[in-house]
Amino acid sequence: MAVTNLPPILNIYEDPDFLFGTAYDFKGRFNGEPDYFANKGEQKGLLLETNFVADAVNLPLVEAKERGAGGGHIRFQLAKSSMNSHISQFPVGTYKKCHRHGPGAHVIILSGEGYSLMYPEGEEPTRYDWKVGSLITPPNMWYHQHFDTGTAPARYLALKHEGVAIRNAQGVPKAWISQRIGGDQIDYADESPLVRSMFAEALAKHGMQPRMDKAYEAELADLPPKP
Ligand SMILES: [Fe+2]
Repeated sequence: MAVTNLPPILNIYEDPDFLFGTAYDFKGRFNGEPDYFANKGEQKGLLLETNFVADAVNLPLVEAKERGAGGGHIRFQLAKSSMNSHISQFPVGTYKKCHRHGPGAHVIILSGEGYSLMYPEGEEPTRYDWKVGSLITPPNMWYHQHFDTGTAPARYLALKHEGVAIRNAQGVPKAWISQRIGGDQIDYADESPLVRSMFAEALAKHGMQPRMDKAYEAELADLPPKP
């Protein structure tokens, strides 16, 4: 599987002959270095600068509170590319906060099982079940929310060429900001009761229960007041 920036680049130039026929070689990106695809890199906090990840399923992650429920996370700067990429893992019995952003995100399930809710504004959520190897691509500005309903942590790899990033005046993606203060992320406190009952039902099939109390409680610490 490959994720490329070809669709937005085609939209910009509208000339396939130019894109596929140009002889220019980007030597600053790759110049035949013999160790280019070696499984090595430099890690700076959550960011791993590398050209090659040999085993994305078992790559050690950094503990991070990302979009609600805690779990592991790592971001990549891959081959000096401008494409966003990261791996995220969430614990058994938990789910991420709902959010929305521009098109082009490709979410590949590396381990675990669960489902995602997706919907455009004003419509009812549709449930999409996933397992290892599933690919989820939330359409432009559709809300989406991922749930781990299996007996093991769920891990996914996300690749996104952001043709358009919707950011606030400080440069923070609106997808990370609470809807209470004008962002595009729905806090746990504001989600529909259906979200919680559907999740509890899905876990009950494995004889399990949601483990979300800590995440709900942690959110209250810096939850903006309702407008
Ligand atoms: Fe997303």
